[in-house]
Amino acid sequence: MKATDLLKKQHREVKALFKKVEGTDNPRTRRELMQEITSSLEGHTLIEEEIFYPAVRGLETQKAEEMILEAYEEHHVVKLVLGELPRVNPEDERFEAKMTVLAELVQHHVEEEEKEMFKLAQKLGKDELTSLGEQMEERFEAFRAKTSEAA
Ligand SMILES: [Fe+2]
Ligand SMILES: [Fe+2]
Repeated sequence: MKATDLLKKQHREVKALFKKVEGTDNPRTRRELMQEITSSLEGHTLIEEEIFYPAVRGLETQKAEEMILEAYEEHHVVKLVLGELPRVNPEDERFEAKMTVLAELVQHHVEEEEKEMFKLAQKLGKDELTSLGEQMEERFEAFRAKTSEAA
């Protein structure tokens, strides 16, 4: 699968998880979904930062450079919120608000990636994008296996 298609697929999966968490007030389900969102987003940002972003940056256009730097900062903010989640009580009145803000942050970031960065990334060519996609899929699976072991 092309790297950009893999990332888009993961974007849709995370969006579905946010929808699910929005639709439940069961504390146990909320907690489980929160863990799944965290692990999905950690794995996703990891393969972008380790493999995809450096490849796009390698296109060496000023636009690519600006987009990548901004994307790293957005990941940083997302990770700050993810870092708080283990201490968030699913029964707290702030739970829904926190999830909504995180979902909006992620959605904004995803739109920029899909509308701008992924378009630019097509310049890497189909073969390169497919090879990156394979590496990323492997890296993602390895990360998920490691985190589910620890849980
Ligand atoms: Fe990203
Ligand atoms: Fe992404």
